[in-house]
Amino acid sequence: MNNVLIRPAILSEQKALEALQLRASLSNAGDREALLANPDAIELPLAQIAAGRVFVAERDGAIVGFAAVLPRNDRETELDGLFVEPNTWREGVGKMLAEYCAGVARAQGSAALCVVGNPHAQGFYMACGFKLIGTVETRFGAGLSLRKML
Ligand SMILES: CC(C)(COP(=O)(O)OP(=O)(O)OC[C@H]1O[C@@H](n2cnc3c(N)ncnc32)[C@H](O)[C@@H]1OP(=O)(O)O)[C@@H](O)C(=O)NCCC(=O)NCCS
Repeated sequence: MNNVLIRPAILSEQKALEALQLRASLSNAGDREALLANPDAIELPLAQIAAGRVFVAERDGAIVGFAAVLPRNDRETELDGLFVEPNTWREGVGKMLAEYCAGVARAQGSAALCVVGNPHAQGFYMACGFKLIGTVETRFGAGLSLRKML
């Protein structure tokens, strides 16, 4: 995809990114009610931005998606959220962010990038080279445990 820039988020973007996360998450059919009943589920900690772990995708000066990566206690890295503006879905932004985060994890010496994915996103993660390794219970039902070897 052309003219998409990926860069670290800055602190002042926290609320805009949380709003984007909410719009993206509400667009997953079936998740709407649980999400509206639990608004605290949408939270992007400032500390993650301050630590340089949040990356935004920007196109023509507008933020169209973001993702966060977190270190783990093993030699792997957690993809802690990946959200794309719904009117930009299926234009390759999500894949660019996933590949960027894989590159960050690889550069930090991680052997794999792991994610607990929403079942709605399974096709996306498989297309990005993740393998399904199981399911995990989350606050909102079953999540998919996926891993991409680096
Ligand atoms: C999942 C999400 C991040 C994908 O972002 P995106 O920018 O639309 O993804 P891309 O355009 O890069 O898709 C890359 C490939 O993934 C696959 N894919 C993407 N969305 C898919 C879907 N809904 N169903 C099946 N396959 C899908 C396709 O193979 C796609 O390639 P194609 O468009 O050439 O067929 C986005 O839909 C989103 O923000 N969803 C809501 C939040 C969410 O569930 N995030 C995951 C949290 S774990």
